[in-house]
Amino acid sequence: MDRPLTTVAAVHPEHGQVNVRGDNIPVETTEGKRIMTVEDHFREAYREGYTPWDIGKPDFNLVNAVATIPIAPCKALDIGCGTGDNAIWLAQQNSEVVGVDLSEIAIAKARENAAKANVTCTLVVKDILKSQVEGSPFGFAFDRGCFHTMASASERKTLAKQVNRHLAENGLWLSLIGNADEQRLGEGPPQRSAKDIVNAVEPHFEILSLVSGYFGSNRPDPPRAWVCLMRKRMKS
Ligand SMILES: C[S@@+](CC[C@H](N)C(=O)[O-])C[C@H]1O[C@@H](n2cnc3c(N)ncnc32)[C@H](O)[C@@H]1O
Repeated sequence: MDRPLTTVAAVHPEHGQVNVRGDNIPVETTEGKRIMTVEDHFREAYREGYTPWDIGKPDFNLVNAVATIPIAPCKALDIGCGTGDNAIWLAQQNSEVVGVDLSEIAIAKARENAAKANVTCTLVVKDILKSQVEGSPFGFAFDRGCFHTMASASERKTLAKQVNRHLAENGLWLSLIGNADEQRLGEGPPQRSAKDIVNAVEPHFEILSLVSGYFGSNRPDPPRAWVCLMRKRMKS
């Protein structure tokens, strides 16, 4: 299929931005009008090399959580791992890591980065909403910017259900999510409210902390984030 005429760079996909609410946008393609899905946006973004979320290092929120909770080395799942900075860092902390992402280009880059760092982790192209990841049950799941790309409440619920299915009893999920309380004029990640998060993760997860903070960023004005730590409920 031909590439859309409107490239992702033209619609500012920071952190997977589709628009501020994360809605899909109809675009002109050489085949006529069609909906550009989140999947299309990310594939385009990686193809174009327009990936402002990619900071070339692990997010400090993950580093802090691992140190302070603490999260012991375990089987860990990085959901929407992108080019692998967080997955690689977790593997360097002796976790046995599986990273999944929709984008073939992101996963190819993540594998290259893991090889350069001389780190072993399993990096696979997969849509977390549609398929099971080999290696369950995981003790820890992490996502930076994947939950917030889900534009609909039903997709977010499906994601929560999927994460729950992949976790061991009492398994933890740390999610870094664009924060809807941020007033901004320019581009940035999709924004979700605390209610969006609670509605999606109940009844599968107990929220241990939901903190209004910031993404790790190379920008002088990092986007605001929800730093949400959850534990799989015993019966869900
Ligand atoms: C904002 S980027 C963040 C990438 C990476 N976590 C990071 O921090 O650099 C969100 C990532 O989620 C991936 N993604 C979105 N929906 C997904 C899905 N359903 N299954 C797997 N990956 C997904 C995208 O391809 C993209 O790489």
